[in-house]
Amino acid sequence: MAGVASGDPRPTGATIWTRAVPPTGTGPVRLSWEVAADEGFSDVAATGTVTATAEGDHTATVAVDGLDPDWHWYYRFSAGSQTSPTGRTRTAPAEGSSPERLRIAFVSCQMFSEGHFTAYRHLLAEDVDLMLHLGDYIYEYGSDSEEYGYHRLRTDPVDHPTDLEGYRAKYRLYRTDPDLRAAHQLLPMAAMWDDHEVYDDYDRFVDPDQRAAAYRAWFEHMPHLPDPTDPSRLHRRLAWGDLADLVLIDLAQYRDTEAPAPFVSTTTEGSVAHDSDRTLLGATQREWLKSTMAASKARWRVLGNPQMLQPLRLVDLDNEITRFVDPDLPPNAGLYLNGTQWDGYQAERRDILSHLVEHGVGDNVVLTGDIHSWWVGGVPLDIDDPNTPTVASEFVGGSITSPSFEQMLNARIPELNSLVRDVAGDLEFVNLFDHGYGVCEITRDAVEVAFRRVDILDPGAGVETMATFSVQRGSPSITRTS
Ligand SMILES: [Fe+2]
Repeated sequence: MAGVASGDPRPTGATIWTRAVPPTGTGPVRLSWEVAADEGFSDVAATGTVTATAEGDHTATVAVDGLDPDWHWYYRFSAGSQTSPTGRTRTAPAEGSSPERLRIAFVSCQMFSEGHFTAYRHLLAEDVDLMLHLGDYIYEYGSDSEEYGYHRLRTDPVDHPTDLEGYRAKYRLYRTDPDLRAAHQLLPMAAMWDDHEVYDDYDRFVDPDQRAAAYRAWFEHMPHLPDPTDPSRLHRRLAWGDLADLVLIDLAQYRDTEAPAPFVSTTTEGSVAHDSDRTLLGATQREWLKSTMAASKARWRVLGNPQMLQPLRLVDLDNEITRFVDPDLPPNAGLYLNGTQWDGYQAERRDILSHLVEHGVGDNVVLTGDIHSWWVGGVPLDIDDPNTPTVASEFVGGSITSPSFEQMLNARIPELNSLVRDVAGDLEFVNLFDHGYGVCEITRDAVEVAFRRVDILDPGAGVETMATFSVQRGSPSITRTS
């Protein structure tokens, strides 16, 4: 068997996964699975069978139920004389309980050919309850891609897949990384995709056959069962007692085409980002997000948000002079760095943030990926009005291996961090160069976040803490603590 994984802990269960390699041919494989309270499997709590078929690339995904809440569980699959490695997962605390702690490792952007996934080895020593993957679990570029890639440290023979076999080959390749395999074996993951699971910056106008192939391979290989009533839906809420609601949003499949990047709001082309009918979430998910956030009674709301929410405006063009020259200037006009993130969908962002303010929804922490660099700051309702509230505290984690600005610029210029920090909004921290992961510890009255960096070129690399931050309940302001 090819390894195990688990995901989406609930109070009474979790999703477990394996891939069976049939001994001969491509026929179906009948698998037995068992879940126990102990590593020796003397106290078995649930068992069942599942068939892994060629139609599903011999993967098997089971939503286990009937387990006790807030416990570590061991699981394994077997077929004939073959037994999978023993996996470890956990259940979430019971609904209505008051847990003291939820500790999440958050990761994103792992391009296989760019480096080793050593970050996962260190993450395993962090005593976290859950991994949160914010997308770009695979990249469509192979190691021979002329389009993207700097280190080409490991061979990836699959360049720009378009069909099911191509996308499957990506997941099989990525799962050969020993650290990624070990992390999946020992920790549950809550996974959300971003764009590279299909291809760079795709949107809702994507070729439906290619999208279907890419999504099918994702669902086959990730520890998550699709919603039978809406098979491509991925936005969802995971509750951790009354401590936190983890709200995962999908910024890929429903989006309108990105704004040009970098875009200037004052040009006709760039002002598209301010159009009132543009959507990143799609109407259904937007209304779900608004109602889920407003209905949440947890002490904290943790938004698993693949792309940066806070404005990243490099030049402010919203002032008295520009408004005198052009009275029709859009609100918050300026030069924005990236039209694929929330900045390219300004009206929808304002709609959601206003909704949170109107409903008094505070204590919102946003964990973000996508941009292969590290950013910390508040999310203001209106960057041009200092009297409006800050709605959330956002922590953007760097990539596991995907190119940072060090690779893109072919230089490491530490001064650039403070330069960008000073011009781009109200930021506590910027690091454009390192790779690694974040750890977010949520307790009753505070959230602490640590940023850890790892050298991706050295499979034996150590780990180093770059910075730590804290947010107290009742105020979104972020304090750097080291
Ligand atoms: Fe990425």
